Amino acid sequence: AAVVEHTFVVSQVRMNRACKDTLVTVVNGQLPGPAIEVTEGDSVVVHVVNKSPHGLTIHWHGVKQRLNCWADGVGMITQCPIQPGKNFTYRFNVAGQEGTLWWHAHVASLRATVHGALIIRPRSGGDAGTLYPFPRPHKEVPIFIGEWWDVDLVELDMRMADGFFDDYPVNATINGMLGDLYDCAGASEDIYVMQVEPGKTYMLRIVNVALLSRYYLKIAGHRFTVVAADANYVKPYNTDVIAIAPGESMDALVVADAPHGKYYMVALANQPPLPDQQIPVFSSRGVLQYSYNPIKGEDPTVINSLMVPEMPDQHDMMTSFYFHGNLTGATPHPPLPINVDDRLFISLALGSICRGSHVPLPSSPCRGYDVNESISVATMNNVSFQLPTKVSLLEAHYRGNMSIAGKLHELPDKPPTEYNYTDKTMIPWGSKEAALESTTKAMSVRMFRFNTTVEIVFQSTAILNSDANPMHLHGHDFFVLAQGLGNYDAERDAGSYNLVDPPVRNTVLVPPVGWAAIRFVTDNPGVWFLHCHYGFHTSMGMAVAFEVENGQSSDMTLPPPPIDLPRCEHHGNSVAY
Ligand code: C2O
Repeated sequence: AAVVEHTFVVSQVRMNRACKDTLVTVVNGQLPGPAIEVTEGDSVVVHVVNKSPHGLTIHWHGVKQRLNCWADGVGMITQCPIQPGKNFTYRFNVAGQEGTLWWHAHVASLRATVHGALIIRPRSGGDAGTLYPFPRPHKEVPIFIGEWWDVDLVELDMRMADGFFDDYPVNATINGMLGDLYDCAGASEDIYVMQVEPGKTYMLRIVNVALLSRYYLKIAGHRFTVVAADANYVKPYNTDVIAIAPGESMDALVVADAPHGKYYMVALANQPPLPDQQIPVFSSRGVLQYSYNPIKGEDPTVINSLMVPEMPDQHDMMTSFYFHGNLTGATPHPPLPINVDDRLFISLALGSICRGSHVPLPSSPCRGYDVNESISVATMNNVSFQLPTKVSLLEAHYRGNMSIAGKLHELPDKPPTEYNYTDKTMIPWGSKEAALESTTKAMSVRMFRFNTTVEIVFQSTAILNSDANPMHLHGHDFFVLAQGLGNYDAERDAGSYNLVDPPVRNTVLVPPVGWAAIRFVTDNPGVWFLHCHYGFHTSMGMAVAFEVENGQSSDMTLPPPPIDLPRCEHHGNSVAY
C-alpha cells in the first residue's frame, strides 16, 4: 500500500460567477478543490496550510477513521480549528473501503466552497485491471452538485445559528460552474462539458456538496446504472434520474449509446412546496458531448442538436423517496447484526429557545420575554446541539471528563413527549400559545459501550416544512433497514425491514414527514458527530455527539492524540471560526 501525500493551501480568492466577483475560501485556488485519488489500503497524509482568515478543519466524509477519531476533522467535536496562519497534518488510512467519498471543511458553512473528491479504487487484480464488481469503465468522471453563494459563509452561519434563515444561494452548480444560464459580457464560458466517445461506458462519481438542497440529476437521452452509494456497492439499479441529498455520494454508469450530439445534464433542486414562502428554483446545466470522429465518417451536422432532459417537478418528493427505497446492498456485505442492544427513536424538528437566557423555561418558551426574543433552533428529541467553546468533546472524552467541555445533556432515547408528527399544529414553535414543552440548548451527547448494536428510527416532522433530512453519522457505516411515510409505528413498520440485502450507507435521507430505520455496531471508540447534512440544520443544532467507549483490548482503544493536534486553550474561551 502506498502513502499518498497532498498539501492543501486554504486561502481566499476572488471568483467570478453569475456576472459578479465574490471572495471565496477555497483549497489550492480551485473549486472544487483537489481530488485525492487512492487505492484501498493506502495511507493518506494531507498537510493543511491555513492562509484564510477563518479557523477551520477538514473532515474526510465517510472515512471510518477506525481508532483514529483524532483525524475526523470536526471543529470542536474532534479538534479545535486550525487557526489562521497555522498548519496541521491529517493522517489516516482507507483500509476496507472503496468508492466515492469526499472531504470538506467542518466549521461554519465553509464546506460550500472548501470541498473535493476522495476517490478510493479497489486494489488492482493483475491483468484484469482494477477489480470493480462490474466491467471497468472507460473513464471516471466526478460530478459535484453544489450551490453558489455570494454572501460571506461564516456570517451566514452565524445568522443561521441565531435562527435567521433569510439567504439563498445564487444558483446550483455542477463541478463549481453555474451552467450557461448567465450571459455576462466578456466572461469566459461557465459550463461543465463532459466529452464522451460513442459506445464507451463512463462512471460518474456524483456527490451532493450543496448546503441547502437535494437534487435531481438527469442527462437527456441517457440512463444511469447506480452501482454504489456512499462508497458501498449496491445491486445495479437502472434509472433515468438520480436523486441525491447533501452528503450523499453515488457512483453511476452511463453508456454513451445515444445518437451523436450534445445533451444537457441538469441538476434541479428538489424542495417541498411551501404555501407561504416562495423558494427560488435552483438548477444548473452541464453538457455531455460526443466527440466527433471524422475518420469513421460520422455526420457532423448532428453535433448542433442540444437535447434537454425532462426533469421531475421541483416539488416532486416521491421520485426521491422511491429512488432511495429502491437501493439494495450488493452481496457480499458485512454481516447484519440481528440482536439489537440499544434502540433510539429520534424526532427531527424545530423548537425555540430564549435569546440571552438559553435556559429552558416551563410552558411558553419565552414567557416573560418578548416573543421576538425567541430563537428558532433545530432539534433531535427536543434538544438543540450546542458546540463546546473551550475544549473539543473528543479531548474531554479522552481526559475522562466530558463536562469540562461545558453543559452536557444526555440525548433521551425517545422524545420527551409523543406527537402526531404529521400534524404541524402539534408542535410548538414561534407562537406564544400551544407551547407543550421547551427546547433545551446544550451539548447533546449519547454514550455507548464498545460493540453495542444500535438501532435508530429517525422521524421527520411536519414542523420542518415537510422537508426531508439527510442524517449523516461519522466513524461508522450503517445498514438502512427501511423508510416510510407518516408516523413510525413499531408494530406495523418493523415488519417491513429489509434484513436480507439492506444498503450500507453513511448518510440516510429521512423522507419528508416520514421515517427511516438504521442499524450499526459501535466498533470505533471516540466521539462521533451525527447530524443533518443540510448546512442550516447543522448550524441550528440538529446534531448529537455519540461517545463510544473503549473496548477491552488495545485494538479497541483510542490512542493518544497526535502531538501537533490544534488545542483550544491558546485562544481563551472563544473559538474563532
Ligand atoms: Cu459531511 Cu459531519 O459531515
